[in-house]
Amino acid sequence: MYPLNRNRRLRSKQSLRNLIKESSLHPHDFIVPLFIIEGTNLKEEIPSMPNYFRYSLDIIKKEVKLLWDIGVQGVLLFVKVEEHLKDNFGTESFKKNGLMQKAIREIKSSVPDMTIMTDVALDPYSSYGHDGIVKGNKILNDQTNVVLSKMALSHAEAGADIVAPSDMMDGRVLSIRKTLEDNGFHDIGIMSYAVKYASNFYGPFRDALDSKPGFGDKKTYQMDFRNRSEAIAEAKSDIEEGADIIMVKPGISYLDVLRDLKNQVHCPLAIYQVSGEYSMLKAAAKEGWLDHDKVMMEQLVSMKRAGADIIASYFAKDAIKLLS
Ligand code: PBG
Repeated sequence: MYPLNRNRRLRSKQSLRNLIKESSLHPHDFIVPLFIIEGTNLKEEIPSMPNYFRYSLDIIKKEVKLLWDIGVQGVLLFVKVEEHLKDNFGTESFKKNGLMQKAIREIKSSVPDMTIMTDVALDPYSSYGHDGIVKGNKILNDQTNVVLSKMALSHAEAGADIVAPSDMMDGRVLSIRKTLEDNGFHDIGIMSYAVKYASNFYGPFRDALDSKPGFGDKKTYQMDFRNRSEAIAEAKSDIEEGADIIMVKPGISYLDVLRDLKNQVHCPLAIYQVSGEYSMLKAAAKEGWLDHDKVMMEQLVSMKRAGADIIASYFAKDAIKLLS
């Protein structure tokens, strides 16, 4: 009761605020999404993601070394697939010498201790830009799971530590888990994008990989952003199917969902601060409307506060520089 309790007392100086802080960021909290392209000596800026790049294999190795040196412990790999290699069935996605498989091997050999996570989904490989096999105007669930399992297995064979299915087909975690077990990959983790919303914040990412859906949208498989309890059901079923880490995506607009999961499921939680979130801040900062670094840190800390163990963010490198 006032004046016995004065909440401002512990806010009086920075050192005291530092002592009583409830959340903080550490370089080990981050995983860094990386976009990979064919070619040599390429570092292409993504127009809708200022200061974020696609790298060819030779350059990506240097980038991953640099990330390791500043304290990053995990990278999440995405590939931009050449148009002529795309089809409805994602057949390129499980080739031994596909771009993803080559990237995994290169990174593994140059920075062996880095945790390599790989995106498992059809969209960069799909001539329709969808996360599943298309028939008529439908996305086929179980047939897609077969391809996803082959893709995950090929990533494991190339040396991935964790596969990250981001497609939102039902039962894909079980299907991938069984395939990995049957092939002796007992220790490969699955980070499931269990709670992935049909969000409007993915636009710049789809530019980065040239993976816009050719027709319709992703609402028959990704979650409706009006829903909250459904997230718990999604997470629980993926954990039962063998997921090791559960991801919520996007970030900032979904912190309520992340906190629900923190309270109700017991496995490490990741959140993905997606491309649209990155680009919005870059644009506002460029106009001088927001302080880039301060808003970036506030957003990242809010994810920790909400319950994230791991944050996938295009800001990781910038944030880690500020932390040190
Ligand atoms: C595709 C995938 C998407 C993202 C990660 N994996 C796009 C989508 O679902 O359309 C979005 C990431 C971002 O916007 O940063 N399976």
